[in-house]
Amino acid sequence: MKIITKTEALLAEIKSLKCEGKSIGFVPTMGALHQGHITLVQRSASENDICVVSVFVNPTQFNDATDLERYPRTLEADAKLLESAGCSILFAPEASEIYSSQELSQPFEFDFGGLDEVMEGKFRPGHFNGVVQIVSKLFTIVQPDRAYFGEKDFQQLAIIRRMTTLMQFPVEIIACPIVREPSGLARSSRNELLSAEERTLAAHIHAVLNESLQFATSCPIDDLVSATIAAIERKGTLKVEYYSIVDGNTLQPIEKWEETDYAVGCVTVHCGAVRLIDNIRFK
Ligand code: PAJ
Repeated sequence: MKIITKTEALLAEIKSLKCEGKSIGFVPTMGALHQGHITLVQRSASENDICVVSVFVNPTQFNDATDLERYPRTLEADAKLLESAGCSILFAPEASEIYSSQELSQPFEFDFGGLDEVMEGKFRPGHFNGVVQIVSKLFTIVQPDRAYFGEKDFQQLAIIRRMTTLMQFPVEIIACPIVREPSGLARSSRNELLSAEERTLAAHIHAVLNESLQFATSCPIDDLVSATIAAIERKGTLKVEYYSIVDGNTLQPIEKWEETDYAVGCVTVHCGAVRLIDNIRFK
């Protein structure tokens, strides 16, 4: 595995791989890698000649300076995991390789077509502008044939799809299922910030969502939403920021099950100081 930190060097590498006719799979990450990321990397490595992984804690998608500061950085361990997962190139640039100081000081504009006005977009203003800004830059540099994203970040996936269509990137977006800990907790770099007790509590989120599957389509949506929030908050210090059952394509909340054949429940829960997201597909 090659470790590249300079954009110029990566561009030269990609150019020669393209000349050789190699297919390129790409997995963008912010590092602190776990089995969720590694599953994406293994899939990318198995479906393409070359697998490129970026590790970059993108400053423009954090709307909370403390969150950016606290974000775990474990590049050495990440490199070892990536090598054994079949990654060919690890791209780990400094922020100055990616952004000019002007870009860092003014928000990036993108037409989200409403996808950013709900859920994460509402509670983390500007977050998705930063995500689109970095992923579009990385797509331009890496020029992948396929790019792999996890369904755990459900809204991010919908936004990346829109960005790819609008900006006409010739990239196939591959959605990968959520990887969970044995307790059911969705794997996340943020889980490392949980105490042992909080980790046990956090497993309750998926347990409640999973249990709610049996009421889906028979129980009115409003009732299911409030019962789910109450059931999650019954446990210790879990605090639901939002829980929405949405159309999986438009991300708009639905009022009746018949409105869509693609219904997904998306939740964000605070467990102590840690913000966790998860989702479940009803149909
Ligand atoms: P990060 O949180 O590091 O996640 C990188 C990729 O791994 C995302 O596509 C995410 O959905 C996926 N992923 C994380 N946990 C997962 C799990 N438990 N199961 C399946 N997939 C999982 O998402 C980002 O970074 C950033 O926003 C990024 C796209 C890299 C832009 O900076």
